Amino acid sequence: MSAVLEIRNLHVSVEDTDILRGVDLTVKQGEIHALMGPNGSGKSTLAHALMGHPNYEITDGEVVFKGEDMLELGPDERSRKGLFLAFQYPVAIPGVTVANFLRTAINSRRKAEDSEDKGIPIPEFRKLLKDKMSSLDMSHDVAGRYLNDGFSGGEKKRAEILQLATLEPDVAVLDETDSGLDIDALKIVAEGVNKLVGPGLGVLVITHYQRLLSYIVPEHVHVMYEGKIVESGGPDLALKLEELGYEWIRSAHS
Ligand SMILES: Nc1ncnc2c1ncn2[C@@H]1O[C@H](COP(=O)(O)OP(=O)(O)OP(=O)(O)O)[C@@H](O)[C@H]1O
Ligand SMILES: [Mg+2]
Repeated sequence: MSAVLEIRNLHVSVEDTDILRGVDLTVKQGEIHALMGPNGSGKSTLAHALMGHPNYEITDGEVVFKGEDMLELGPDERSRKGLFLAFQYPVAIPGVTVANFLRTAINSRRKAEDSEDKGIPIPEFRKLLKDKMSSLDMSHDVAGRYLNDGFSGGEKKRAEILQLATLEPDVAVLDETDSGLDIDALKIVAEGVNKLVGPGLGVLVITHYQRLLSYIVPEHVHVMYEGKIVESGGPDLALKLEELGYEWIRSAHS
């Protein structure tokens, strides 16, 4: 059965302010969804709430992943279960190389599946990493650098896509900002996602950058406004937003 991430009537508040006010969204393995919406509409709040960030209080609703109540699981367990979350502002981890970070993550997933697992043998891991980097046309030097430490915007995006490729999650939520990301970095994300999508991967791409969606073509497009999904449609919805902006959304839903 394919893995499904189901968000139902999700309400989230930050410091006693209601930000998400009833979000419903279902992402299945093999589907690409885009979540768009103006600045401050609550897109990143949704990503943080899905991760289980302690500042984001779930006041109502539920999130079910692979048939299990995901809100009962800690951030690590969510990731081990096959949910991948990439953030608008990724943190640097000085002292931990990209390779070590990935090996630790792979091993913790393996251990979750089999408590006897001794971890991926180093030669096998090296080969896996090399293969993934080659398939993404990525310079192999990245593996030895400290994760996100001094990385350019484009390098952070490459590291994010490499994580996605090696961890092979069932569903990935990618929060992509437009600010600070040049078009090349957006293309890296788009090409990476396009290479990785298939029946085994469901993706929710968060952006308000229409241009990203000319490279990644989502089958489903949703618009968030004031903490709710107010429009859902196909790729034509993204085109309409490009043409008309968000003004019609504001006048229809204020
Ligand atoms: N940690 C926080 N503390 C206080 N307010 C917050 C916090 N996180 C989010 N908010 C508020 O929640 C609202 C939604 O913010 P959010 O970052 O989710 O928007 P967004 O849709 O991701 O915007 P953007 O397109 O600019 O990335 C904003 O009004 C923001 O100020
Ligand atoms: Mg955001």
